[in-house]
Amino acid sequence: MRVVFLGAPGVGKGTQADRIAAQFQVAKISTGDLLREAVRNRTVLGLEAKNCMDQGNLVPDDVVVRLVREKLADANCANGFVLDGFPRTVPQAEALGRVLSANGMALDLVVNFQVPREDIVRRLSGRRSCPKCQATFHVDFAPPKVDGICDRCGELLGQRSDDRRDAIEMRLKIYNEQTAPLVRYYDERQLLHPMDASGAVDVVFQHLSQELAPYRAT
Ligand code: AP5
Repeated sequence: MRVVFLGAPGVGKGTQADRIAAQFQVAKISTGDLLREAVRNRTVLGLEAKNCMDQGNLVPDDVVVRLVREKLADANCANGFVLDGFPRTVPQAEALGRVLSANGMALDLVVNFQVPREDIVRRLSGRRSCPKCQATFHVDFAPPKVDGICDRCGELLGQRSDDRRDAIEMRLKIYNEQTAPLVRYYDERQLLHPMDASGAVDVVFQHLSQELAPYRAT
């Protein structure tokens, strides 16, 4: 199973990628998670990426392509992978195509998550994250048992710097300008599969699992 989860910020790509990776025993590669890890560890890459991320801008293509190329070479991708948040520009998609074909591989499917804009803003502005174990919650849809405290490790929950209202607006603008053209790109390659992701997490997961079942590794 080699799939891309495409869609605007907050449509639920990461939430569903975690579940699908566990269910189908494939690797999850999230460029957002990899970049946030680099920021936390204060690596050179992290320091370079931080400003772009805080403002809701994209990190340069060559940086993320390098990250993904390294991850795809990992043994845990042998059974397949879910790419969450990559590619996000046409040059990234072209680079991904080159990396895969150099390894005799191709994508099976690109799932295009669709959620109304007002729901996206509500999902992102209500998200709370644990700075210690990275668990995520939502004040309305997935609240922690104790308000403001991580269920998993007891740490105080915080808000991602790019989940502030101004950064959300910027991320949506950047999505429309730079990532939305990938819908057409993958549609022309007959890989695009639309997914109504506006329902509850379990409902979306059920639909997604059914759609992806034919690509399960045998
Ligand atoms: P990234 O982490 O990829 O952010 P994003 O795409 O903006 O993704 P999100 O995590 O915000 O949304 P999601 O669709 O994964 O939704 P989630 O499941 O988390 O990227 C962050 C930054 O890194 C970028 O802005 C950029 O700077 C940089 N970057 C990353 N990749 C890059 C690339 N390829 N090129 C260049 N730069 C890159 O859910 C969101 C919230 O909604 C959660 O609270 C969740 O609990 C809730 N929720 C999820 N599903 C549901 C549901 N069905 N019903 C109700 N609530 C739900």
